[in-house]
Amino acid sequence: MGYFLGIDISTTSSKALVMDAAGKVIAVASSPHTLQTPRPLWSEQDPLEWWEAARLCIRSALQKAGISGDDVSAVGLTGQMHGLVLLDEAGRVLRPAILWNDQRTQDQCDEIHRRVGKSEFIQITGNVALTGFTAPKILWVKENEPQVYARVKHILLPKDYVRYRMTHEYAMDKADGAGTVLFDLKARDWSDAVLSKLEIPREWMPRTFEGTEFTGVVTEAAAQQTGLRAGTPVAAGGGDQAAGAVGMGAVEPGVVSLTLGTSGVVFATTPSALIEPDGRLHAFCHAVPGMWHFMGVMLSAAGSLQWYHDRLAPEMSFDDLIREAETAPAGCEGLQFLPYLMGERTPYPDPLARGAFIGLTLRHGRAHLTRAVLEGVSFGLKDSFTLIQNAGLGKVTQVRASGGGTRSALWRQILASVLDAELVMVNTTEGGAYGAALLAAVAAGVLSDIQSACDACIKITGSTSPDPLQVKIYQASYRVFQQLYPNLRDNFVQMSNIS
Ligand code: XUL
Repeated sequence: MGYFLGIDISTTSSKALVMDAAGKVIAVASSPHTLQTPRPLWSEQDPLEWWEAARLCIRSALQKAGISGDDVSAVGLTGQMHGLVLLDEAGRVLRPAILWNDQRTQDQCDEIHRRVGKSEFIQITGNVALTGFTAPKILWVKENEPQVYARVKHILLPKDYVRYRMTHEYAMDKADGAGTVLFDLKARDWSDAVLSKLEIPREWMPRTFEGTEFTGVVTEAAAQQTGLRAGTPVAAGGGDQAAGAVGMGAVEPGVVSLTLGTSGVVFATTPSALIEPDGRLHAFCHAVPGMWHFMGVMLSAAGSLQWYHDRLAPEMSFDDLIREAETAPAGCEGLQFLPYLMGERTPYPDPLARGAFIGLTLRHGRAHLTRAVLEGVSFGLKDSFTLIQNAGLGKVTQVRASGGGTRSALWRQILASVLDAELVMVNTTEGGAYGAALLAAVAAGVLSDIQSACDACIKITGSTSPDPLQVKIYQASYRVFQQLYPNLRDNFVQMSNIS
């Protein structure tokens, strides 16, 4: 006893993390998932593969930590949000899960706004219906695969399918529940009004729990498959963003977390169910009991740099590319990059938005192009940051930065100057899996509450301040950036009709 397991069912892999009672990470193991894109805009995974990967990485994490299942006091779960898992009466998977980055459901989003009324939908759920969210996916299956829909008896999200395999309980945490956009945000539970207008039976939806509540215990069968002890309690945990914020210590209003991974996320805790009136920010329940959060999501953040490297400079290392970009001046002499390589979510929910380099002259070379990518992504994150600052939350006192992109000192400096805010780095790098382990430790009563658990376990390791000269240049550059998408939107639609 005395160890906690955080399990993260992400898009790329399942990961298991072993943490001791003092919050120290002892071991991490992961096992990959495959992704299927059977048609353009579709993104699917086989839930059975998640369970297989989860089972393998739990065993391997226990082995790496040198402990047995008997030493684990509790498990916490996290994972990719919004994915639709459909099960029949016996808990069998009915079709591949439709994931958060699947874009097939624009018609169903429009239909949801028509049926519920867009402003009423925002009032109840805190959000507009977006293609990535779960509710439109349910309508899509009803319309396009009626034979599947006729057999549905249970709806789950990805990590909750793994929970079902571990505990035999249909259960979900409230953070992930809100991400289905079938939740009454204030009530922190399913909205009967929205469910009935979308004709989705209430009994298909699982019971929902706060992040630090236990939802069940590991079954005998799951114990045999994972190496855990039968009877080990499993905490609700949270969707990857909410659990990731716990893992970064972003659990009180004023402390904003900024993740510069493949996608980019700006996340702010709210003490009540605040909403952005036009639904431009996502508003979900937090994994911290009784708290909520705002979130802006950029689909191609460090993913933009990855694309740029892979397609245009594959022979160079990332370090060399960035070193070269340092030779270009802040503002790139007017060159701009639009980071909408996979469409966008915040602040422009538009699957047809496109990436662009704008403002090229003969003076511009690769150093400028690379730097423009770093600056364009930072401007896109500033869009979310500004919406959060204007959303009635009070002063942002600290921005905690994480994700692969923040390993670059140049990118950190650009971000600090673009946001005109100090960025701090923390000692935890395992994001959601670590947050899930902390939630499990609080559920077990070993750590008293989330805030004090984060204060005890998460330490600031460094900071980057805005550079006053850059701040001025970026203010001018950002004013141009803000005009580019609205000016180009119609062209993006026309471009989507050219094959
Ligand atoms: C959050 C979101 C992604 C997924 C995948 O709204 O869509 O973070 O959870 O990680």
